[in-house]
Amino acid sequence: MEEALSGLLAGKRLLVTGVITDQSIAYSVAKLAIEEGATVVLTGFGRLSLVERIARRLPAEVPVIELDVTNAEHLSGLADRVTSTVDGLDGVVHSIGFAPQSCLGGGFLDAPWEDVATALHVSTYSYKSLVMACLPLMKPGGAVVGMTFDATKAWPVYDWMGVAKAGLESANRYLALHLGKRGIRSNLVSAGPLRTMAAKSIPGFEQFEESWAQRAPLGWNLTDQEPAARAVLALLSDWFPATTGEIVHVDGGYHALGA
Ligand SMILES: NC(=O)c1ccc[n+]([C@@H]2O[C@H](COP(=O)([O-])OP(=O)(O)OC[C@H]3O[C@@H](n4cnc5c(N)ncnc54)[C@H](O)[C@@H]3O)[C@@H](O)[C@H]2O)c1
Repeated sequence: MEEALSGLLAGKRLLVTGVITDQSIAYSVAKLAIEEGATVVLTGFGRLSLVERIARRLPAEVPVIELDVTNAEHLSGLADRVTSTVDGLDGVVHSIGFAPQSCLGGGFLDAPWEDVATALHVSTYSYKSLVMACLPLMKPGGAVVGMTFDATKAWPVYDWMGVAKAGLESANRYLALHLGKRGIRSNLVSAGPLRTMAAKSIPGFEQFEESWAQRAPLGWNLTDQEPAARAVLALLSDWFPATTGEIVHVDGGYHALGA
C-alpha cells in the first residue's frame, strides 16, 4: 500500500540551489523540506564532490546537478537534467550570492565595474535566469523564493552586495508581475545575519552580529538557519496562495526598529 503523503510540502518537487556547507541556509531548507514531505533536487556550484558529500547528510537521497548561474549552457540544460530525476517542479529556491572582495568591506568607492558586474550577475540577474530556466517545468500554483538581506538601508561593509540585494528585491517584484499570469508566485525571505560561508567572506561581518545581538526585539541566533528556512518552506507551500512580490523578514524584528 502506498504511504499517505503528509507534511507542509507533501508531494511537492523542489529545486534547491546554494548548498555548499551544512551551515548553508539552503541546507536547512532542503532538510526541512524533505522532512515536510517534499522531493528535493539540489544544484551545486564548483565543488560538486563537496556538495554531494554534504547532500548525503540529508534525510533522503537527493541528486545534485551542476549549476553555475552565470553559465548559459548550464542554464539551458537545466530543465532536461532536472526532468531526468523528477517530472516537474512545484518550487525553486534561489539561495545564491557572491561579490568579489573589492565590492565588500568598505570598498564601495573603489570597486571596479568588472567586479560589480560579477556581483550583480551572480546575486541579482541570476534570480531571473534561474527562474526562466525552470519555468518550462512549472505550472500554476508553483512558487519561487530567494534570499535577501534588507536592502532598504545602506549597511557598513555590505557595499555593492547591498546594491545587488536592492536589485534582487526589485527583480522579485518584476518576477511577481511577469509570472502572475502563469499563476506562479515570487517572494523573498530577508534574513538576519547568519554565520555561513558567504557571510564569513564579508570583512567586518561581526558588526552585523553585534548589532543584531543588541537590538533584535526577539533576540537573534547567528548559527540557527532554521527560522529563515521555515519561512522559505511556508512561502513554497499552499499557505501563501495570494502572496507574491513580497519580502518576509526573518530577522528577530530588527527591520521594524528606528535608529
Ligand atoms: N548568511 C547571512 O547572513 C545571510 C543573510 C541574508 C541573506 N543571505 C543570503 O542567503 C543566500 C545563501 O547564502 P548563505 O548565507 O547560505 O551562504 P552560503 O555560502 O552557504 O551559500 C551561498 C551559495 O552561493 C553559491 N554560489 C556562488 N556563486 C555561484 C554561482 N556562480 N552559481 C551558482 N551558485 C553560486 C555558493 O556555491 C553557495 O552555495 C545568499 O543569497 C545570501 O546573500 C545570507
